[in-house]
Amino acid sequence: MLELYSVSSGYGRLPVLFDINFSVAPGELVAVLGPNGAGKSTLLKTILGVVPASRGTIVFDRTRVTHEPASGRFVRGIALSPEGRRIFVNLTVRENLVTGSSGVAPDVAARQMERAFELFPVLGERQGQRAGSLSGGEQQMLAIGRALVSAPRLLMIDELSMGLAPLVVAGLYETLRILADEGLAVVVVDQFASKMLAVADRACVVEKGRIVLDGTGEENQAELLAGAAVGLDRK
Ligand SMILES: Nc1ncnc2c1ncn2[C@@H]1O[C@H](COP(=O)(O)OP(=O)(O)O)[C@@H](O)[C@H]1O
Ligand SMILES: [Mg+2]
Repeated sequence: MLELYSVSSGYGRLPVLFDINFSVAPGELVAVLGPNGAGKSTLLKTILGVVPASRGTIVFDRTRVTHEPASGRFVRGIALSPEGRRIFVNLTVRENLVTGSSGVAPDVAARQMERAFELFPVLGERQGQRAGSLSGGEQQMLAIGRALVSAPRLLMIDELSMGLAPLVVAGLYETLRILADEGLAVVVVDQFASKMLAVADRACVVEKGRIVLDGTGEENQAELLAGAAVGLDRK
């Protein structure tokens, strides 16, 4: 569904990603791991198109989208829940979800909002409350819910577990597993390997702008948990 062939990108004249070959299939849950500054967020932004690729080819749904702006890729079904979640703390839960629906057919958005409430019942219970009153885990649910409102086929989440308790993170991964099993392609960036390897179909490690490891959880697990190459947290 998504393929990157020899993609490089960066900011202005600063190169960040080098020769990235990466793919995600429908129903696949892929974990992208790696140390701070490795280029994980840049990879997601390059896939969405907010950072342009300077070399290589990006294909989504058999269409070359390498030079298509992010708005066009969003319409095709690529959604990103950004690092830091970026929810609007002074808007209500429902209003935050609505911000994910611009350009989305109203019936689709309404259906997807119900789906978000089904996956995360606490959002439904608190839809009239200020988003700033939610816990960190609930705010992450809201960020994911907002990304789901556009009915994406590729869902990308940056720094899923940042600041959250392990049990909360495990719950979020279970929900992402359900979504992937329904056919959604899911890419999750995290700094910590632990919780994710049990549910992910594949794990990739980005280091200094290159993918240095890409394989199924089992293949990678020993190497990742050893953490030797990448200095990943072992918790
Ligand atoms: N907006 C930006 N402008 C310039 N450089 C950036 C920008 N965002 C990130 N970088 C640089 O790109 C590199 C990779 O950053 P990033 O993709 O955010 O890494 P990660 O998400 O793995 O922590 C870092 O050296 C960072 O300083
Ligand atoms: Mg990042």
